[in-house]
Amino acid sequence: MFEILTKKKIVEKEYDMWIKAPRVASHAKPGQFVVVRTSEKGERIPLTIADFDRENGNIRLIFQTVGKTTYEMSRMEVGDKLADVVGPLGTPSEVKKHGTVLMIGGGVGIAALFPILRELKLLGNKVITILGGRTSELVIMKDECAKYSDELIITTDDGSEGIKGVVTDGMKMLIERGEKIDYAWAIGPTIMMKFSALTAKELGIPIWVSLNPIMVDGTGMCGACRVTVNGNIRFACVDGPEFDGHGVAWDELMTRLKQYKDQEKISLEKYLNEVGEM
Ligand SMILES: Cc1cc2nc3c(=O)[nH]c(=O)nc-3n(C[C@H](O)[C@H](O)[C@H](O)COP(=O)(O)OP(=O)(O)OC[C@H]3O[C@@H](n4cnc5c(N)ncnc54)[C@H](O)[C@@H]3O)c2cc1C
Ligand code: FES
Repeated sequence: MFEILTKKKIVEKEYDMWIKAPRVASHAKPGQFVVVRTSEKGERIPLTIADFDRENGNIRLIFQTVGKTTYEMSRMEVGDKLADVVGPLGTPSEVKKHGTVLMIGGGVGIAALFPILRELKLLGNKVITILGGRTSELVIMKDECAKYSDELIITTDDGSEGIKGVVTDGMKMLIERGEKIDYAWAIGPTIMMKFSALTAKELGIPIWVSLNPIMVDGTGMCGACRVTVNGNIRFACVDGPEFDGHGVAWDELMTRLKQYKDQEKISLEKYLNEVGEM
């Protein structure tokens, strides 16, 4: 059993938790994730390891409530225990000295970007970060990202902070300014990663993206998480979740993500009814 040590609501529908998981914490590397089950009867869901504290054996998860399991987790309190936390899973990010790296994060994806960004900074890269959100308050972890960035650019759809627009506007601004980027990472909603990758291609920048297909086992046994990259079928849970953004078959991924929409809606409604929130 994996005890919830802290719980904080960071913005509407987003929660930040530290969990006791010593074996995961001792091996976790930036870019990896865990598969969580709230209870014996629960579904398995993948969540990125947003941070880890090897010394105390704790990991940090930051998640958005979108369906039954994430709602269930949001209702758990400090001292409650998750039935399963399996990991670390996935291939770690290719963090090394690249030169100047551009880190692009959107929504809850910023949580997944953070450990990679920090490691890249500690390895001596020049780190330029663009964080985007619909409004200023939805851009999470600004201070933590700023601490490990040489420059932090914020973009908001409504112009409530930074550049009014989307992350790709920030990318273009940097190139127009003459900034030379050696490598980029984009993590966020699939549509954001798709357009970041297309813009990076136009600008001639290699880019990693962290894909979030539906997963079941998370250990390479079922293929639920399959994606097409550079014409080859890959399993995101073992070959990824990070891939070359220029090679991803984005439209196929988006179609597959919608596969269980009806069942997910029914399951959430049933759960909210049970707990008296509908
Ligand atoms: C490797 C990986 C790492 C992830 N890390 C995080 C994280 O750190 N924080 C976080 O909040 N989420 C993360 N996700 C997404 C998370 O797994 C889903 O939000 C979760 O499975 C939803 O479960 P649910 O039962 O609450 O909702 P469901 O009932 O399963 O789904 C409800 C709705 O959520 C959307 N959804 C479902 N699964 C996904 C998915 N995999 N990606 C995007 N949207 C989805 C769909 O629109 C769906 O209709 C990650 C996904 C992957 C594959
Ligand atoms: S989730 Fe089953 S193979 Fe990746």
